[in-house]
Amino acid sequence: MNISIFGLGYVGAVSLACLARDGHKVIGVDLDPVKLDLIRTGKTPVVEEGMVDLMASVAASGRISVTTNAAEAVRDSVISLICVGTPSAPNGSQDQTAVLRLSRELGAVMRGIDRPHVFVFRSTLVPGTVEDSLRPIMEEASGKKEGRDFHVCFQPEFLREGSSIRDYDNPPFTIVGANGDAAPQALRKLFGHLPCEFRVTSVRAAEMVKYCCNNFHALKITFANETARLCEALGVDPFQVMDLVCADTHLNISRAYLRPGFAFGGSCLPKDLRATMHLAKQRDIDVPMQAGILASNRAHLDHAISKVLSTGKRRIGFVGLAFKSGTDDLRESPMVYLAEYLIGKGMTLAIFDPEVHLSSLLGANRRFIETHVPHIGGLIRKELAPVVAESDVLVVGLNEAKTVSLLKQVVRPGQVVIDLVGIGDTTGLAGDYLGLCW
Ligand SMILES: NC(=O)c1ccc[n+]([C@@H]2O[C@H](COP(=O)([O-])OP(=O)(O)OC[C@H]3O[C@@H](n4cnc5c(N)ncnc54)[C@H](O)[C@@H]3O)[C@@H](O)[C@H]2O)c1
Repeated sequence: MNISIFGLGYVGAVSLACLARDGHKVIGVDLDPVKLDLIRTGKTPVVEEGMVDLMASVAASGRISVTTNAAEAVRDSVISLICVGTPSAPNGSQDQTAVLRLSRELGAVMRGIDRPHVFVFRSTLVPGTVEDSLRPIMEEASGKKEGRDFHVCFQPEFLREGSSIRDYDNPPFTIVGANGDAAPQALRKLFGHLPCEFRVTSVRAAEMVKYCCNNFHALKITFANETARLCEALGVDPFQVMDLVCADTHLNISRAYLRPGFAFGGSCLPKDLRATMHLAKQRDIDVPMQAGILASNRAHLDHAISKVLSTGKRRIGFVGLAFKSGTDDLRESPMVYLAEYLIGKGMTLAIFDPEVHLSSLLGANRRFIETHVPHIGGLIRKELAPVVAESDVLVVGLNEAKTVSLLKQVVRPGQVVIDLVGIGDTTGLAGDYLGLCW
């Protein structure tokens, strides 16, 4: 395939070399004449393992060329990968000067081209950029319609400097954010052979996932380093501890705890976090990321409170009270905090949780209700039906299949369902559906 690549930094230069190696004809475009001269003479513009040999071999193959002329590059290719820099502005926002300017230029080039072309944005872009800024700019500059006369899509790049050729050949996945078939079809021809899943998503999801992945990586490094500082102060070997943490592929290095839902609670996580923070304080160890976890959890609870208040209704039904589905443990349950807050605001509550019946509660749980939240005990109903009948708003805090399925059948038109946990398919739900964050 004939491909043009705009921006020959780490991402663009490695892509140019690898695509040419794979047999494609690649035109590199950059504003920097020094980079173009290096590539023209078979040298690498970036320091990367394997790039010296690869550049020499692809230059010798005759499959690469370079230019500063965007029009020529688009005319001589069917697909363009856009890899220009998107650095931080002084206020932390993304500086999109290069990609905005280039989009206008590419749109103007398309004015004079009468066959469709696929533009693939590979620069990291804040969600919404392609659909809200770049596509309109290109349509205006070209006088043409995206999706018909040309196509845009977003494909995040997951390579890491230092191992980028290996990462190019072994990405975690290929993600293409697109609204039509043309761009994914073209990209399958370039990347479909890679040993990973090829996923097509919305453009915004593809933009967002790049940030999520990088932020998650930053969070993991910080977690390991905070743990190491605390371990050092306690005379514990941090490598042994983190090795054990990573050995648990059930709960730690897994999908567990990564599904969006309601705030955490229960008898372990909040208390153990508090004890860890106290320990760190005693040893003068600063662990700001972990110290922020409880505050973040509280913000999630506050978000749920605002959702309920935003309905303006006062008869509230709770589906779920325990801190998670399938348990009767009410200790530090965020549902209990939410109930207490709403009662404090003078709202009327009725509560159903299949696992929580005052008559059958034993030991610590019964004591918890009787001593901490005695006013909640009287609001608990044995069945879901009276809760639905008594309420204008239903707050769903559990994801137990039988209860959720029954709930979906009995909701009345006009009733508001606030879903804190992600109950899945809501087609056919009679009431107004409000997700907590979705
Ligand atoms: N570096 C990485 O490891 C990496 C990994 C994944 C994603 N990304 C993202 O990819 C993008 C590129 O990163 P990079 O590190 O390769 O950037 P870079 O700064 O190394 O290179 C960008 C290149 O774009 C060129 N350029 C600017 N405007 C141009 C224009 N109008 N036409 C042609 N060329 C132009 C610049 O001269 C420069 O050579 C960024 O958005 C970055 O966040 C980078």
